[in-house]
This record gives sequence, structure tokens and C-alpha cells, in this order.
Amino acid sequence: MLEPERILRLEDDAVVFLDQRLLPLEEVDVRCGTAAAVAEAIQTMVVRGAPAIGVAAAYGIALAAAKGEDLAEADRVLRESRPTAVNLAWALDEMRDDPSAEHARRIHADEVERCRRMAGHTAELLSPGTRALTHCNAGGLATGGYGSAVGALLTAWERGLLDHVWVDETRPLLQGARLTAWELETASIPHAVIADSAAASLMAAGEVDCVITGADRIAANGDTANKIGTYSLAVLARHHEIPLYIVAPSTTVDLQTPDGSAIPIEERDSAEITARFAARNPAFDVTPAELIAAIVTESGVHRAPYQQSLAGAVAA
Ligand code: MRU
Repeated sequence: MLEPERILRLEDDAVVFLDQRLLPLEEVDVRCGTAAAVAEAIQTMVVRGAPAIGVAAAYGIALAAAKGEDLAEADRVLRESRPTAVNLAWALDEMRDDPSAEHARRIHADEVERCRRMAGHTAELLSPGTRALTHCNAGGLATGGYGSAVGALLTAWERGLLDHVWVDETRPLLQGARLTAWELETASIPHAVIADSAAASLMAAGEVDCVITGADRIAANGDTANKIGTYSLAVLARHHEIPLYIVAPSTTVDLQTPDGSAIPIEERDSAEITARFAARNPAFDVTPAELIAAIVTESGVHRAPYQQSLAGAVAA
């Protein structure tokens, strides 16, 4: 398992990221010497995953403060770097009163600790022999250490509950095939990468017991934005009577957003799909709360009606 400081860290003169665009073939560090450079690293997905970009933004503010940059401008450029994951705005709000390096490092450590607690709660939902399917990458790379959905799989494996993981390759940027598969391989967890479109037939064949994913923003009513394709999985899982569990820290829950229709969905460059023809490239979709069996945060397992159960999760 990667150490949190290997994934991203604050040094005296730079924020340093393990470049997730090149993994798993190359392990290259990217050094960002200004808040604007950190924002570019977030936008170009050197660092990605909802909690990890929140931590990156916190480090960007701490760096800007240490270097005497204009903090309002640093906040603005970081806040605009990616729109869907609410962890980014949450971390920037947190840093407003105390832009110190110590505060940013505490945010990082807290996110990793939340992951460990969520993993324990999620494992309690699983029976021995579980064959889980996951989408995108919600591992240590995405959270700054340990992982949300993948963290839950790690804990389930350690407790002898997990038999196998199906890893959606996750088009177009292949976070599943590149990053999740790499993390599972490192942990020696049995897994197989599948084309995103193979999930339906595996479910129909009775080879999937549950779907476990992370989240980028969870609205007050439980509607959940996550990597494009999660909604398709949710519909498939409901048809095949398989539970979908969302594993995400309370920093991903946004009680100010009433439902999924108010979640901003990032549209990325069409060149990520095809350079030659016209393309649409929405990076996230929203899974309606009614298709989610449970949302797991560090405070426990939350079930419908989410309006009540999530309010308790954030207050806890
Ligand atoms: O575009 P990405 O790679 O940043 O999207 C990430 C996801 O959708 C993850 O599933 C989500 O952030 C949860 S990470 C713990």
C-alpha cells in the first residue's frame, strides 16, 4: 500500500504529486511551486479522486501562504479547477481561517483516518466469499491514502470476507484498469479487469454479489455523483437484485445541495474520447438515492431515508 506522503505531500517550496496519469507504467513525481500549478495538476488529473483533490487544494493554500501569494486568488484558481467533487470546496473553506501547513497536513491525515473507519463499517455489510465489482479508482491514490471503496475491499480481504474483485476498466481514462488493478495487485487481492460493458452479463451469470464505489458528491437526499458509468451499474444492480454500496467520507456529503439535479457535472475535453470526431465527455453521472442500498461514511452505515440519516452523518 502506498504511503500517504508518496501520493501527495507538502514540502517547503512545493506540493509534490505522484503523477497518476502515468501509473502504473511509470512512477514520476510532479512538483508544483505555486497554487496555480497545483490547480493545473488537479485540472489535468496528475492528482484525482474526490478526497485527494481536497487535500491537494489544502496543500495549495498552505504553499501559497508560505510563499506570500495572494490567498484570495489562490482560493479562486483552486476552487475552479474541478467542479463536481465537493471535497475540493470543503477543504478550501476549511483552510480559510488557518492556511497553515500544519492544518493542511491534519486535513490529509484526517481523510486517511476516515477511510479506515469507513472500511470497517463496510466490511460488516459483507459475507464471506464476496465477489465485489468496483468502478473507477476509489483507492489510496484517490483519497491520499488507504482508499474509500478500495479501502473497504482491503479490510474485507484482511478479514477473510472477499473472494474476488471485478474491476471496471472505466473509460475513457481507465482509472480502473490502470490504478485500481495496480492497487489490488499490490495488495495481492484476486481481481480481474473487465470492459465496462461486461458488468451486465457477469451479474446475469450470478458472478457479482455487490457493487462498491466511492463518490464525488452526495446530495442531501442521497443522490450521488460518481464517475460516469456508476449510474448504469446502479440500474443493472437493481435489475439483478444486487446491493450497491457507496463508501465516502462525510467531507463528500453536501447538505447544501438538495438533490442530484443541482450537482455540477464536469464536462472534460472531447479529445479524451476521440481526437478526430465530435464527442461529449461528461466525467460524472448521478445515481438516484433509490438505487443505493447503503451509504457508508466514517460514522457508520446510512440507509434510506437519506435526508435524515445523512444529516446525522455530517453532524456526527
Ligand atoms: O475523474 P476522477 O478520476 O477524479 O473521478 C474519481 C471518482 O469518480 C472516484 O470514484 C471518486 O472520486 C471517489 S474517490 C475516493
